[in-house]
Amino acid sequence: MSKIINTLINKKCDLPIWFMRQAGRHLPEFRKIRNNNKDFIRLCLNSKLSAKITVQPLIRYDIDAAIIFSDILLIPYALGQKVSFKKNTGPELSEFDFDIFKKINKKKFKKILNPVYQAIKLSKNDMDTKKSLICFIGAPWTLIFYMFGLKKINGELDVNKFKRKIPEIRKIMTKLTNFSCEHIKNQILAGSDIVQIFDTWAGLLPKKYINEFCIKPNLRIVKFCKKNKIPVICFPKGLKKNYKLFVSKVKPDCISIDYDVNPSWAKLNLKNICIQGGLNPKMLLKSEKKLMYELNRYLKVFSGKPYIFNLGHGIMPNTNPSTVNKIINQVRSFNGK
Ligand code: CP3
Repeated sequence: MSKIINTLINKKCDLPIWFMRQAGRHLPEFRKIRNNNKDFIRLCLNSKLSAKITVQPLIRYDIDAAIIFSDILLIPYALGQKVSFKKNTGPELSEFDFDIFKKINKKKFKKILNPVYQAIKLSKNDMDTKKSLICFIGAPWTLIFYMFGLKKINGELDVNKFKRKIPEIRKIMTKLTNFSCEHIKNQILAGSDIVQIFDTWAGLLPKKYINEFCIKPNLRIVKFCKKNKIPVICFPKGLKKNYKLFVSKVKPDCISIDYDVNPSWAKLNLKNICIQGGLNPKMLLKSEKKLMYELNRYLKVFSGKPYIFNLGHGIMPNTNPSTVNKIINQVRSFNGK
């Protein structure tokens, strides 16, 4: 049994480790492939290259899992929206078209995303059986945030636009959640061992809407994962103290905390659940002394607890792989003191 599964299911405390965004821009071997593949969505839908990128971090680092090289925005893409990635401005999606959305069925959806499922099969074949393959989805709210273009230039939520769109959001929520479950099911059938649900923009939701747009859809998806007997990790980034409410309602196998959550608070308040992550990815750009101090803080707080080492968000693109290795060495040699 893999170390992560043993932590998730048997609540073992042997400190497995992987990194969000490990299969991405900080790796020179990824950038080499990326430079020759300018269309990001097409790269995600190239099964052979996607599988190659997925296992790159396992070749370079002593880590316990791979995460499939794909993107949360492949769901809006499969539901009929054009998705492009412009340098420095982030993803751009074409106007959401309800008529196209209405016409998509499970069969069409599966056909469009089939290369992802093939990439999972190829990656799994290429991996040591002691390592886990993590698949993922973006939670419905985080997808909606992009699908309806709810981000203001300063990165905050465009509250007026959000309020105007609420009837439309309600209209698509159930079907979007169903398709998210469908994508998970297909990824499980292809050989994934663990699911992670990224709700990157959960923290932008006005308090009044956290239950309806974050907790409820996450709960439905977690229930779906449990029914399918696959461990599930939730990452409702930015929820601050509402992490406690989230855990009590959604009850995933593991909760991934962001860098704004105090680890001691988490240990005290997020009870009877495996915890993942926390360390600020910006610390990897600081001096080794500062990095090690912060890293040890997390290791000490969660020592003797079912804890999966990870960061509080994805690795930043300008991170040096040697710094990632220093973290791995420290985690591997940590003896609980
Ligand atoms: O290594 C991995 O984690 C696996 C692959 C992965 C990608 N995206 C590849 C990617 C995963 C798990 C994601 C999830 C994702 N995508 C999220 C949730 C996690 C998070 O970081 O909050 C979100 C919000 C997205 C949407 C997205 N995709 C954005 C906002 C961007 C542009 C900004 C950025 O981080 O680059 C992407 C592009 C993207 N997705 C890249 C990669 C490797 C960079 C593409 C490039 O090379 O230009």
